[in-house]
Amino acid sequence: MGRTVRIGFVGTGGIAGAHIGRLVDIPEAQIVALCDIDEARVRAKAEPLGAAVYTDSKKMLDEVKLDALYVCVPPHVHGDVELRAAAKGIHLFVEKPVNLYMDKALEAWKAIRKAGVMTQVGYSMRYLPGAMRLKSFLADKPVGTAHIFRWSGMPGTPWWRVYDQSGGQLVEQTTHQVDLLRWVMGEIDAVAASYSFKRLLPGEPNMTIPDAQAALLLFRSGASATVSTGCAAGKGYLGGMHFLIPNARVSLDGDNLSVQPEDAYPVPPAPREVVSIDAAFVRAVLNDQPGLLRSDFRDALVSAAVTLAANRSAEEGGRLVKLAELLGEDF
Ligand SMILES: NC(=O)c1ccc[n+]([C@@H]2O[C@H](COP(=O)([O-])OP(=O)(O)OC[C@H]3O[C@@H](n4cnc5c(N)ncnc54)[C@H](O)[C@@H]3O)[C@@H](O)[C@H]2O)c1
Repeated sequence: MGRTVRIGFVGTGGIAGAHIGRLVDIPEAQIVALCDIDEARVRAKAEPLGAAVYTDSKKMLDEVKLDALYVCVPPHVHGDVELRAAAKGIHLFVEKPVNLYMDKALEAWKAIRKAGVMTQVGYSMRYLPGAMRLKSFLADKPVGTAHIFRWSGMPGTPWWRVYDQSGGQLVEQTTHQVDLLRWVMGEIDAVAASYSFKRLLPGEPNMTIPDAQAALLLFRSGASATVSTGCAAGKGYLGGMHFLIPNARVSLDGDNLSVQPEDAYPVPPAPREVVSIDAAFVRAVLNDQPGLLRSDFRDALVSAAVTLAANRSAEEGGRLVKLAELLGEDF
């Protein structure tokens, strides 16, 4: 690897813009090619960077030598591009959720493992100071139960409100909080869920996702968590994560970590070093250090499986769905 990382993008919408905004400040990151099926969009992003423009990702991967590829497409579009890039030995930054379909996600994982490329999935909360403090705080404490909630409105992207394209809010957005639960509480064995459709927003056009969702997560440790998420709350956002521990409760609200009662436990200080998810990825690729990455494809695939298990449960009347049904017994 030279002293720069040659980077390409597939998908140049909202989140790609956020990654590009951080990468341009990293001297070792060289964005060389961008691809989007929306030609005007990809041109507008590529021109200021002097990057090559593509509307076909296969052509881009065949013509441009890349060290790393960002895959920033909607959930239902993942799959083929990851397979092609892995086969060429290109390291992957894949936006969450890794796929809407578990068979495709598992196929991509097999190709990634075979190719031995590094992967980072966009679970950016794992890089935020509050979540890092929560993880170190809970490292030596049992959690009995947790409650997470996320009540908001809907993003404007048209695919987001279509169930077969986004999977709904739990799969698409609240996956961040589910992933964080796994990061601090360990693995989940089974999920039950119930959703409401068109109950709060009956007249909303083109909306096939649920407007409110509740799920119960059962952890291997014996702990549990409840998740409440809804996208019918209009402008703004109300959310938080709460944990019951011996003689106290802990809350993460945005980046703010608090313990009640305050004298129950000392709260760890802010982490000494905070890096962005993009800086960590570039550094890992440059120095061949996968250990710098906090959410690889295999790990992220499990977070996706939890929310897809919730969808299956809700579709089947709230049946308790074991994660092994989606991942296989040996995963
Ligand atoms: N990590 C985070 O915090 C975070 C935040 C926002 C979005 N995301 C994730 O990023 C993904 C994209 O979200 P977004 O908000 O950028 O969506 P978006 O609609 O703004 O952008 C997606 C882009 O992908 C393009 N696209 C679709 N199919 C394509 C194909 N076959 N080849 C090339 N380009 C294609 C679209 O034309 C569009 O420009 C979603 O999975 C979302 O969950 C992550």
